[in-house]
Amino acid sequence: MKKVILDVDTGIDDALAISYAIHSPALEVCGITTTFGNITVEEATRNTLQMLELLGAADIPVYQGAARPIVRELTGKARLFHGENGLGNVVLPPPVTAAQPESATQFLISTIKANPGQITLITVGSMTNLARAIMAAPEIVTLIEQVVAMGGAVTVPGNRTPVAEANICADPEAAAFVMQSGIPLTLVGLDVTMQTLLTREHLREWRARDTPVSRVFADMCELYMDAYATVGNVRGCGLHDPLAVGVVIDPTFVKAVPMHVEVDTSGGASDARTIGDRRARPAQAANVQVCLKVDHERFVQHFLRHVMGN
Ligand code: BDR
Ligand code: CA
Repeated sequence: MKKVILDVDTGIDDALAISYAIHSPALEVCGITTTFGNITVEEATRNTLQMLELLGAADIPVYQGAARPIVRELTGKARLFHGENGLGNVVLPPPVTAAQPESATQFLISTIKANPGQITLITVGSMTNLARAIMAAPEIVTLIEQVVAMGGAVTVPGNRTPVAEANICADPEAAAFVMQSGIPLTLVGLDVTMQTLLTREHLREWRARDTPVSRVFADMCELYMDAYATVGNVRGCGLHDPLAVGVVIDPTFVKAVPMHVEVDTSGGASDARTIGDRRARPAQAANVQVCLKVDHERFVQHFLRHVMGN
């Protein structure tokens, strides 16, 4: 089993990613750290605890992370896509469990140091917690097995701006810092996640299952799909965060290409864009594995088989 830590801004697709990771026999989820993005960090922590309780996995420890970007002010929430509460306005009982006293940064550093070469970090929100952890303990760059990050749009349009993806927009300086840090990083961006769609047909199957979890997931995703239909004219919703988990479970779901990637932090029209050097002779050495192709059918089938367990 691969030891993983999830770093989330829960979030509808984050919730699906958590459930997928927990139910995958290939992964051991050592802990979950929270960040801002789709919602505030406090809401992300609450939603994560609620999800774990719904899934019967409240023994997985949750560590609250950064409340704001490293340099900038906190920007608005993603209400249109994730609803007012981040979970598609689905109301779950208030959590009876609480986050751990340790911060996300402390947990990341201590866990990576205690398990050299063994921890995979999956970030599916802003990269702020990881950036802070590297700033405080630069040695983790060589002690971590790898980071798989949902973020960026290297060869396709953005979703938050014409050129930038939401997780990078949430804290561009953090993403830029992580990419320059030398940490082994795979970017699972919109290049591939917009090809892995959950459809209304899948929601009908979840409704027919009629379990407490399948009902909640179907209700959450209904709002997510409505947003996609309105804004992007997309038939379904992107399985962004679950695909990052999928890439850890089975790297052959995607084809990743080594590339030099920079994040624009200029504040101008291309702010937060992930610029990949795709020239035949790039000027600088590759710092990121960028996922450019995905076997979407195989991944979606795997996701559907495991997301709720048996
Ligand atoms: C990413 O942004 C968030 O809205 C989603 O949870 C996902 O992590 C997609 O761009
Ligand atoms: Ca997310």
